[in-house]
Amino acid sequence: MPNWKIRKAAAIRGELEVPGDKSISHRSIMLAAMANGTATITGFLPGEDCLCTMKAFQQLGIEIERVDETTLIVHGKRGKFKQPEGDIDCGNSGTTMRLMSGILAAQPFKTRMTGDESLRSRPMKRVMEPLALMGAKITAEGKDGRAPLLIEGGPIKAIHYTTPVASAQIKSAVMLAGLFAEGKTSVTEPEQSRDHTERMFAWHCLPVEREGLTATVEGGHPIESRDFVVPGDISSAAFWLVAAAAQPGSTLLIKNVGLNPTRTGIIKVLLRMGAHVVESIDSEEGEIRGTIEIRGGRLKGTVIEGKEIPNVIDEIPILAVAAALAEGKTIIRDAKELRVKETDRIMAIASNLRNFGVRVEERPDGMEIHGGGPIHAGEVESFGDHRIAMAFAVLGLFAEGTTTIQNTDCVNTSYPSFYETLQRLVRMSPAKQIPVISMFFS
Ligand code: S3P
Repeated sequence: MPNWKIRKAAAIRGELEVPGDKSISHRSIMLAAMANGTATITGFLPGEDCLCTMKAFQQLGIEIERVDETTLIVHGKRGKFKQPEGDIDCGNSGTTMRLMSGILAAQPFKTRMTGDESLRSRPMKRVMEPLALMGAKITAEGKDGRAPLLIEGGPIKAIHYTTPVASAQIKSAVMLAGLFAEGKTSVTEPEQSRDHTERMFAWHCLPVEREGLTATVEGGHPIESRDFVVPGDISSAAFWLVAAAAQPGSTLLIKNVGLNPTRTGIIKVLLRMGAHVVESIDSEEGEIRGTIEIRGGRLKGTVIEGKEIPNVIDEIPILAVAAALAEGKTIIRDAKELRVKETDRIMAIASNLRNFGVRVEERPDGMEIHGGGPIHAGEVESFGDHRIAMAFAVLGLFAEGTTTIQNTDCVNTSYPSFYETLQRLVRMSPAKQIPVISMFFS
């Protein structure tokens, strides 16, 4: 198992691009596979989660050529798949399992989907219930609606569904199934979640509409193959945003990063915390992309709650780190979804922050973090969760002493080049001229 040692770092200066957006990479393959011809996807994220989606479609009979790490040529088959041999292994990827449930529910064959221990402990009823209303037959073989999922595909009917939680995965599963139904399928959410599926539908010439918190698609239309360029993942950029924003003297330019407004909540939160962050849009073709410029300074505490939560849901671990570095108290509430992510992130964040000497009170739906105190190097348990490992690697850059991050394999889920980028951005520790980051195996 690889582990990392991190030492206190000086200011970060530089320019970088982050790997392709995870949510968009999944969807780019899904739509290209269901489309009516051949399409090239560039900027694809070669992380383990997205590779699970790629392999799943290969098992379903879709030819996918990997030109290089980040370029795929997908030969769409107009939504006609073959029954896979063996199980589809979704690994750690909730997006693969939940979104594929929508597609597989409409196929004329049986499929079994499974995943790693973390994925097999995550709730799947949230997609099984609406899909059952559409006529799907899905059985959860795990306890209380947990994977493995056995899907007996068949005809699907359109529905109007109101989700109890704001979740792009639920919305997308229903809308993907809706592509195979006659008539209009719509999903109404309590708050707006990321809208990549809707944008991807529009890019592939599908009739998709949005009215307030309701997204609607009409089934039965051809999906046009179109090349797609995946922007950089703002959730990956988030680690560098905080590393630079909290360190006086830092300056950083992040280029070609996704700036979809349903994902840029982190910028708004950091601005409230007093950070110097400027975003500028370069293109709005397919997805919005642009540049983020950050200048380091002192941060102050804030409140993160309500409808902002779905917009920053994957960034809470790194925002908790920003809170620990900020002067005063930060309150995070309305975020109980964090309990059912790759790990229970409220527990994982609170327990790791305490290891750094940060005062934190855990709540059922969030936490209160008392920032601005001394940060002592901590022992970090990743809990097998990529975002926990990377967030606390950033906190290690600010801590006195040597921080250890255990079990860092999970980082490959979304950001395989994180270690190299960190090495490039902060080469030497200011005091002792020793590398800031090093790896050891246990
Ligand atoms: C995702 C949606 C979010 C997010 C996850 C990716 C997606 O999950 O946390 O990392 O690609 O649709 P929920 O839909 O469960 O909120």
